[in-house]
Amino acid sequence: MRKPAVPLNNTTQAEIERAAAALKVGRLVAFPTETVYGLGADATNVAAVRRIFEVKGRPADHPLILHLASAAELPRWASTVPEVASQLAAAFWPGPLTLVVAKSSEVPRETTGGLASVGLRVPAHPVALELLRRFGGAVAAPSANRFGRVSPTRAEHVVADLGDDVEFVLDGGPCSVGLESTIIDVTSGVPVLLRPGGVTIDSIEALLGVVVSRRVAPGVRAPGMLLSHYAPQARVELVAHVELAARAHALKAAGESVAVLLFRSEGDPVAALPEGTLTLDLGENEHTAARLLYWALREADTQGASVLLASPPVAEGLGEALTDRLTKAAGGPY
Ligand code: TXA
Ligand code: MG
Repeated sequence: MRKPAVPLNNTTQAEIERAAAALKVGRLVAFPTETVYGLGADATNVAAVRRIFEVKGRPADHPLILHLASAAELPRWASTVPEVASQLAAAFWPGPLTLVVAKSSEVPRETTGGLASVGLRVPAHPVALELLRRFGGAVAAPSANRFGRVSPTRAEHVVADLGDDVEFVLDGGPCSVGLESTIIDVTSGVPVLLRPGGVTIDSIEALLGVVVSRRVAPGVRAPGMLLSHYAPQARVELVAHVELAARAHALKAAGESVAVLLFRSEGDPVAALPEGTLTLDLGENEHTAARLLYWALREADTQGASVLLASPPVAEGLGEALTDRLTKAAGGPY
């Protein structure tokens, strides 16, 4: 017997059932996760997977993450499950962690961008989990934005970005984490960080009792490593916190329309900012900042800012992922 219906925000059980049916016949479904919205397809359906690449405008050699209903499905999609993978899955799934393992023969090469490895994760969102359970397989899904642009953290963002190209959008409300999953490659003896994200490296190292390597072996394709990524239309400029106000004044004097990302934990520059500056408040700590960052990048565009100034937070804990995304939005470090 099925469990009674859980509250699923704006999305009903009937809609999820229809979305699962759409996946089964090879259609695309955008769905909420705790990190960002995903653009999903049946991971084993090559035509559906190709359509994801087409809609996103994403190069075909960029691998997709497979979303699973539970850790029990790991052996179906991985040809071998290293002990480290089992440990990490038991500790952090459902949650914002993707594990890169050797792929099983069920995963087509089209899905992994030609790689022999595959990224797997169990998302922590009731709508995603219900969709995955009803679908019964793996859902391949990148973030539901056009390639190189800002990831969507609300259903409206998906619709604004992909429009009629996506047939089905499940609305699960705003994403609770707001930044993509942490990606760890466990195909070699040492766990390697491929992308900082919602699960901190500290918590992974504390669990495993080993240091996570940040050195990506030659030949391993590291994700999001293109320096310009996650970018809004406004030019993103990174400055030290103490220089924020002065830089904002200089930009305004040069005729720019300035927006400032405000990390309150770093101190409050509000009083010193020039009149007319759009201040995008990311809340009081790194969790609120993670949740609001992509909204703020979009808001800068909506409000017509030409330059977006930010002073990246201390790169510790979630601050590491925040700084990574800001650096990529800026097209490189400052
Ligand atoms: O939080 C997330 O991970 C979100 C939600 C929807 O789950 N997904 C997401 O997917 O961020 P995407 O496609 O935007 O980014 C996935 C990254 C890509 O940069 C890709 O290169 C990397 O994961 N990736 C996937 N499989 C890989 C593999 N086998 N080896 C190395 N990198 C891999
Ligand atoms: Mg993405």
